Amino acid sequence: MAIRLDGKAVSAHFKEQIAQEVADFVSQGKRAPHLAAILVGEDGGSKTYIEAKDRACQEVGFNSTILRFPATITQEELLLEVEKINNDSQIDGLIVQLPLPKHIDENVITQTIIPEKDVDGFHDINMGKLAKGDHSGYVSATPLGITMLLKYYNIDTTGKHAVVIGRSNIVGRPMSILLSESSSTGNATVTLCHSRTQNLKEICLTADIIVAAIGKPYFLTGDMIKPGAIVIDVGTTRLDDTTRERGWKLAGDVDFKEAEKNASMITPVPGGVGPMTITGLLNNTLKAYKRSK
Ligand code: GUN
Repeated sequence: MAIRLDGKAVSAHFKEQIAQEVADFVSQGKRAPHLAAILVGEDGGSKTYIEAKDRACQEVGFNSTILRFPATITQEELLLEVEKINNDSQIDGLIVQLPLPKHIDENVITQTIIPEKDVDGFHDINMGKLAKGDHSGYVSATPLGITMLLKYYNIDTTGKHAVVIGRSNIVGRPMSILLSESSSTGNATVTLCHSRTQNLKEICLTADIIVAAIGKPYFLTGDMIKPGAIVIDVGTTRLDDTTRERGWKLAGDVDFKEAEKNASMITPVPGGVGPMTITGLLNNTLKAYKRSK
């Protein structure tokens, strides 16, 4: 039976370190790091994420501002809000929660956030730096959080075959770059799989590490996992669940019950990658703060 990689506990460990650093800055008379988050519309998942990020900021002593706008906001109005924050010297990092309403071009918005405050790592400059192995930029919070988890558990990725399923700009693509770069959580041989991949099961069965980031509940089944492989589940789909008061449950991309019989290590959902994503974001915000000083 696989060891569970406890994202919640590891996140708490890193948050304590961040809180200590913040306390030291504040005791020197400096202001605390400040993260601003823009939330457009009423999407339940986005609201939950933004509120969790806000709580985490408060836990580590960051200032946190949530700017909420109705789904009817125009692209031009939203761009003005982004520019206000770009020019606000009291704010170190800005995230605009995705997805945005259809009439707003997400790419235009994410490219308007100045790279220095782009703690989501979505700006072309930050994506370009990542692709080049230049660590002076910001890496998307979920892949960054996963590398922090790998490091914490001393998981050796060197020379291993890592299979990433999903090629999104937020998770799959940056994850594939991090695992292949020359670093302590890299040096893997990476295969990036997606919806058009043929023989996915055969490829997965050769993986020492699998990162499932496709957004399809329970997609990765036990028979796709080589005995002893390490499985990282990025999925967070909300499925109807009438047995719960809130009416839904969170489903990962991995069929956990079967997968844990084959894997040597596995992240649960919830309590695996989710808390590490928030830690990745806190890490980026602290980095932005230190650079602005
Ligand atoms: N939507 C889903 N994941 C993310 C993320 O990491 N950042 C932002 N801004 N929106 C998201």
